Amino acid sequence: MLKRPIIIDTDPGIDDAVAIAIALFSEELDVKLITTISGNVGIDKVTRNALKLLKYWNKEVPVAMGASTPLIRQPEDASDIHGASGMEGFDFEEPTNELLLKENAVNAMYRVIQESETPVTLIPIGPLTNIALLLKVYPEVKSNIQEIILMGGSVSRGNKGVMSEFNIHVDPEAAKIVFDSGLPIVMAGLDVGLKALVLPEDSAKLEHMNATGKMLHSLFKRYRGGSMKTGLKMYDSCAIAYLLKPDLFEAVDTFVDVELNGSLTAGTTVVDLKGYLGKPSNAKVCIDVDPERFREWLLDSLRKCN
Ligand code: RIB
Ligand code: CA
Repeated sequence: MLKRPIIIDTDPGIDDAVAIAIALFSEELDVKLITTISGNVGIDKVTRNALKLLKYWNKEVPVAMGASTPLIRQPEDASDIHGASGMEGFDFEEPTNELLLKENAVNAMYRVIQESETPVTLIPIGPLTNIALLLKVYPEVKSNIQEIILMGGSVSRGNKGVMSEFNIHVDPEAAKIVFDSGLPIVMAGLDVGLKALVLPEDSAKLEHMNATGKMLHSLFKRYRGGSMKTGLKMYDSCAIAYLLKPDLFEAVDTFVDVELNGSLTAGTTVVDLKGYLGKPSNAKVCIDVDPERFREWLLDSLRKCN
């Protein structure tokens, strides 16, 4: 079976680590490149975290470092959620820089996409700065992008701002460039991320499942995206889940814009479910997920890991 070529743009990030594991060990996917973006923690830390994960799994996927700040705004991080290192809670071996490309993320994405014989799917699971820069600097790349399946946004309330989800909140201008791009976009936002939970019984299974489960269980003890008791939010895995098993989700085609100017609402994804704005659809927005089938899929997927 021909594997689907993907690029993961990520800010690891404990929930990013889960999504990356599932993608790397899926028989359906060919992870051509991992690009890093400043988000949960700074660019040097998220890049080292990506390298740490690849060393842990002994996976030789090239890594390219991306933007260290949003397009315009000052960086905001989520170290309160992921710890100071961005992946607190497990003692990874220090990686070498063998897999780290000299190219920056934008140039690496452009090269990989243009070299691909089949259109590439982009999986952004952090702020969208790199993707926006790619589309602005190399607009011709659009013809070889299959679709963008992103973790970000919210039909309703936020988790960083009152109305803004973290990935969009950090770089709203970048998000607007992406949603305005005309490319096929799937938005997996908080409406599904908050229901995509690892429950205590799942964490217990993970601990003795395999080396990946052991590592994730250890990270989950420090992860503050929910709690071991009430459930841990697997935000970023929703993007991979939609790619591999879209029937877990309910999604609607609708118009999405990004608020840039509100002093209280910048970073809000305005999801026009009722068509008040009279604009054509520019995204497929995930509005619900089957929590039980998601958990089953997540555990089955992690069982395939080393
Ligand atoms: O709002 C959740 C998103 O913010 C996830 O991508 C998580 O990793 C953080 O980056
Ligand atoms: Ca992330």
